[in-house]
Amino acid sequence: MDNAELCAQAALLARASGLAGVVVADTRLSHVDGEAGELLIAGARAEAWALAEDAAFEAIARRLLELAEASPPSDLAGALSLARQQAFLQVPELSRALAVPDAMDSLLAATAQGGAGSDQLGLLGALPVYVAAGARLRAGLPLIAPSRERSHAADFLSMLGLPVSRARARALDAYLITVSDHGLNASTFAARVVASTGADTMPCLVAALAALKGPLHGGAPGPVLDMLDATEGSEPKAWLEAELAAGRRIMGMGHRIYRVRDPRAFVFERTLARLAEQAASSPALAARLAHARRVEQTAEAVLSARHPERPLRANVEFYTALLLEALGIPRELFSATFAVGRAAGWLAHIAEQRRTGKLIRPASRYVGPLPA
Ligand code: COA
Repeated sequence: MDNAELCAQAALLARASGLAGVVVADTRLSHVDGEAGELLIAGARAEAWALAEDAAFEAIARRLLELAEASPPSDLAGALSLARQQAFLQVPELSRALAVPDAMDSLLAATAQGGAGSDQLGLLGALPVYVAAGARLRAGLPLIAPSRERSHAADFLSMLGLPVSRARARALDAYLITVSDHGLNASTFAARVVASTGADTMPCLVAALAALKGPLHGGAPGPVLDMLDATEGSEPKAWLEAELAAGRRIMGMGHRIYRVRDPRAFVFERTLARLAEQAASSPALAARLAHARRVEQTAEAVLSARHPERPLRANVEFYTALLLEALGIPRELFSATFAVGRAAGWLAHIAEQRRTGKLIRPASRYVGPLPA
């Protein structure tokens, strides 16, 4: 096959399948093996980072930035804490942007306005402040300032007005770590495309946040809870079949890369089980978990009858929904909370892309009208 034929084949592949399988970047940050169901982040399995006794979001953020040769400061936890304090001082001038009704729109607007000129750690530290302050402003509640004593995860819970305990902070750390990076997903790709133009960090981050807005990437956990609510106390099969008959997708099921159950679903199940061992609400949590497992198994069976050729198993968002719900995070903040964790990966990818000095500029195939 000559070069022209190879190019034509690549163009066809890209056009037919939304760039599936097309390699656009070399990365040292994470690796997804969709057949084996394995996720490596910063050189170790996601579960090894997330389920470690001393798991901390700060540690994975540091490692990702180191691998991207982005020179994180030696006291990254201190720098993030300072960034949260500084972002909180901005809140009065950002209050109009933060009060925008949709949580993702609010985060986008506040990041665009407040993040101009900020460096990577300034932005990483600002996101949980914007999410929490936006939520409190929209609910008409007084703001809660960040605290120097708390970790990133514990401070996020505190700024949202949620109870803070070691077990709860650890569960949120496990969540933020697990979602911190995941190959060249849509939002990471968006960030890298903008970084490749030579833009500074804020617009790259805003592009990534914008790519999280749609339900196909990052927006499924809220609808997963709606599904669990709708099927509570009844047989889920009829509900699931009615959804498919109406042309809707089952949220939290299926993945572009994984052909087995998403390994992150296992991490969150384990994290939920740990939380249930500690939490006062454990009977309710255990019952919710049992119901979710029933819905997952039924959805798998229903989808496999429809698509025997394509395994559609639970993805990260299925158990994200349960974990964030168990922590008391309101469902309208789920995508924004995902962004708080994924931002570590985005910022490392932005740095990694910059180092290549190469513009990302794929081709399109013209199918429009020709001049008369
Ligand atoms: N429910 C019902 N059908 C689904 C499905 C789901 N969750 N996921 C995929 N399918 C079906 C599609 O309808 C399509 O069927 P068709 O060929 O008869 O049209 C087929 O499987 C392939 O779907 P496609 O959209 O081409 O696959 P993809 O790799 O691009 O999709 C997702 C990946 C994640 C976008 C897709 O599985 C999805 O929409 N899932 C639900 C949303 C979700 O949970 N998103 C979070 C992802 S982490």
